[in-house]
Amino acid sequence: MTDRPRRTGEAVARKPIIAGNWKMNLNHLEAIALVQKAHYHLREKDYDAVEVVVCPPFTSLRSVQTLIEGDRIPIALGAQSCHWEEKGAFTGEVSPAMLARLKCSYVIAGHSERRALFGETDEVVNRKAKTIIAHGMTPIVCVGERLEEREAGRTEEVVGAQVRGSLAGITREQLGAIVVAYEPVWAIGTGRTARPEDAGAVVGFIRGVVGEIGGTAAADSVRIQYGGSVTEGNVADIMAQHEIDGALVGGASLDAEKFALIVRYRD
Ligand code: 13P
Repeated sequence: MTDRPRRTGEAVARKPIIAGNWKMNLNHLEAIALVQKAHYHLREKDYDAVEVVVCPPFTSLRSVQTLIEGDRIPIALGAQSCHWEEKGAFTGEVSPAMLARLKCSYVIAGHSERRALFGETDEVVNRKAKTIIAHGMTPIVCVGERLEEREAGRTEEVVGAQVRGSLAGITREQLGAIVVAYEPVWAIGTGRTARPEDAGAVVGFIRGVVGEIGGTAAADSVRIQYGGSVTEGNVADIMAQHEIDGALVGGASLDAEKFALIVRYRD
C-alpha cells in the first residue's frame, strides 16, 4: 500500500490518481454495491500502481466510508463539493469539517457543472480549495474551457485564468500536493474525448502555470488529471501522455467493471 498522503517537497514520481465522480447518481445501497464490485475487479498491484478514489453524493459517504474501513478496501473517499465555512446558517450545505470527520481524503472544487449551474466563480473555488486544505484534505480543482472558447483559440487564456484564480494564495508547499483536473467542458458527458495529445498539451500548460505561481518543485509534484468522456477504451491513450497523471471519470465510473478496467489501464 503506497497510497498514504504525499508530503509536499518529496522527490517522488507522481502516482497516477483515478477518481470516479458519480455526480448525482446512486443511493447509499447502490453505492456500497458499486464499491464492492469495483474492489472485486481490482488486484493489489492495481492499487499499488494507481491511487483509486470514489466521490459519491453526500448521502453515501458514510456508508462507503464504513465499507472501505471495515473491509480494508484501499479506495480513497472523496466528496463532490463543500462549503468553505466551518458551520453556520448555510441551509443545504456541507462543511469541510464534516467531510474530514468522515475521513474524506479528497474534495472536488469547481467542477464545471458547479461553475455553470450553481454560479461558482474562481473566487469561490479558491475559498473552497483553501479550506479543504486547512482541514487536511486534498482539493481536486477542476478547470476547463467551453467549446466556443476552444474554437476561438482561447483555451490557454481561459484555463490559465481559472488556474491562477482558483489557486491564488495557496502556498508553494500546498500547491505541490493538490490535484488539478483538466476537464474541457465540451468533452464532459458528450462521448467526445479530447485528442490525447491536445489534452496532454493543455495539462502541460497548466503545469507551467502552477510553476509560475509556485515554483518548479510544485509544478513537478502537482498531479493533473484529465476528465471528459474517459472510458476503458480511451484511457490508455490518455494516460500515455506523460503530463497526464490520472483521470476524473464521470459516467463510466458508475459501472464497476468499466471503472476497474479504467484503473487497470496498463493491462
Ligand atoms: P464524463 O466522464 O461522464 O464525461 O464526466 C466527466 C466529468 O465531469 C468528471 O468530473
